[in-house]
Amino acid sequence: MAKTKTSYICQSCGSVYSQWAGKCEACGEWNSLQVETSEAGPPKGLGSVKKGKSLDLHGLQFSEEKPLIRHTTGLNEFDRVTGGGLVPGCAILLGGDPGIGKSTLLLQAVCALANKGLTCVYISGEEAVDQVRLRAKRLGLDKAPVALASATNVREIAATIEASDIDVLVIDSIQTMYVDTVEAAPGTVTQVRTAAQELTRLAKKTGTAIFFVGHVTKDGQIAGPRVLEHMVDTVLYFEGDRGHQFRILRTVKNRFGPTDEIGVFEMGELGLSEVANPSALFLSQRQSDVTGSAVFAGMEGTRPILVEVQALVAPAPYGAPRRSVIGWDQNRLSMILAVLESRCGLAFSGSEVYLNMAGGIRITEPAADLAVAAALISALQGRPVPAETVFFGEVGLSGEIRAVSQPDQRLKEAAKLGFTEACIMARTSQKKKQVVIEGMDIKELGHLDDLITLLRESNFSASKSARKA
Ligand code: TYD
Ligand code: MG
Repeated sequence: MAKTKTSYICQSCGSVYSQWAGKCEACGEWNSLQVETSEAGPPKGLGSVKKGKSLDLHGLQFSEEKPLIRHTTGLNEFDRVTGGGLVPGCAILLGGDPGIGKSTLLLQAVCALANKGLTCVYISGEEAVDQVRLRAKRLGLDKAPVALASATNVREIAATIEASDIDVLVIDSIQTMYVDTVEAAPGTVTQVRTAAQELTRLAKKTGTAIFFVGHVTKDGQIAGPRVLEHMVDTVLYFEGDRGHQFRILRTVKNRFGPTDEIGVFEMGELGLSEVANPSALFLSQRQSDVTGSAVFAGMEGTRPILVEVQALVAPAPYGAPRRSVIGWDQNRLSMILAVLESRCGLAFSGSEVYLNMAGGIRITEPAADLAVAAALISALQGRPVPAETVFFGEVGLSGEIRAVSQPDQRLKEAAKLGFTEACIMARTSQKKKQVVIEGMDIKELGHLDDLITLLRESNFSASKSARKA
């Protein structure tokens, strides 16, 4: 009889321990260790890797003559995020909060693929087939030739993959799947990992592109999809604020394409629709004459995106003043405030500071520093930032403004949306061939002090009132 091995696995990060402890040393989570048993024994088939293969392309499945086939859905926002379409045999993890729209997105994507003649199977472990059908009907997709099934047993699904020639398979969600040879409840790290491993192996063998839906929860009972990230080829996160209708599909890892790409969708009555020009959407509700608002010209992957940065400085009634951030890094806000305070002599320490990236988008780029600083200065001094100006540049600890990537693309996008002024970092003199954008007045700043002076300058704000008149 095979020996069994008992181990304690953190349900939050997947670390393995030989004995139980109240707290996971790796991720700091309390009460997240659960006992799981597995069969111990020497791995089978050891020694079969005798001779490697050379790196030349001889006998490769895909080569220059036989390029990598990619299945595109026709949903541009989706295709760009997957790196230009699905590669046969790839495993994609789609993570996101429950209820954010993962099932809706994948249903729309597979229906589009099925309409192009691919064999698509949608397996739901959460919803009954009729529920999925009703949703498809509501989305106007009920004519798409997608095979629906409600199943949770991985061996059953595996048999189906091997028996039939499936191009695209959706597993919704991986947390509901279970392998009956493993003694652990569905949703535990062991089950999730074993199920994903088994299905990924089969997908590679049969050339099926496979999607795993994974819920991200803080709850220790359900294994977060983080434990799967290294196992799959592509990791996508679907995020957004449930209070907003925008949803952002973000690539965090992609073996077949660039990372950091985003796709923007809008959740409506008829499901998710693509947003081709997100900048216009994020700026659509901007008011031009308010203090504490500055527009950041950002890049998300290969795409420029303009976002409104909003800041509010309010008197702190008592105690330590609050610093609250939505859509940006709290530590970076503290840093910008400290730099403004100690290098430029602005006093924020007695005030509460709130920062918000409008529209529910999350910005990770340090390039937003300059726009954040502009919004903060404007909020503190009660003077609006000129509405037709965009900002980008990273701020260093001495208050210097540092270079960021792709300034030309950012400027072009801003010009396209009708902005006429840009405050950016000083572009290096070595790079002589700088793009001059027609109708765009580019102000290159070296230090935050320059920004403060600029925001105070009379003609800078006068141009605005002249335009308004
Ligand atoms: P769903 O795809 O079920 O989320 P997930 O699979 O990530 O848990 O999406 C559920 C939400 O989306 C639900 O709150 C309702 C909303 N929704 C719409 O607003 N319009 C639609 O057309 C659909 C299908 C869903
Ligand atoms: Mg779902």
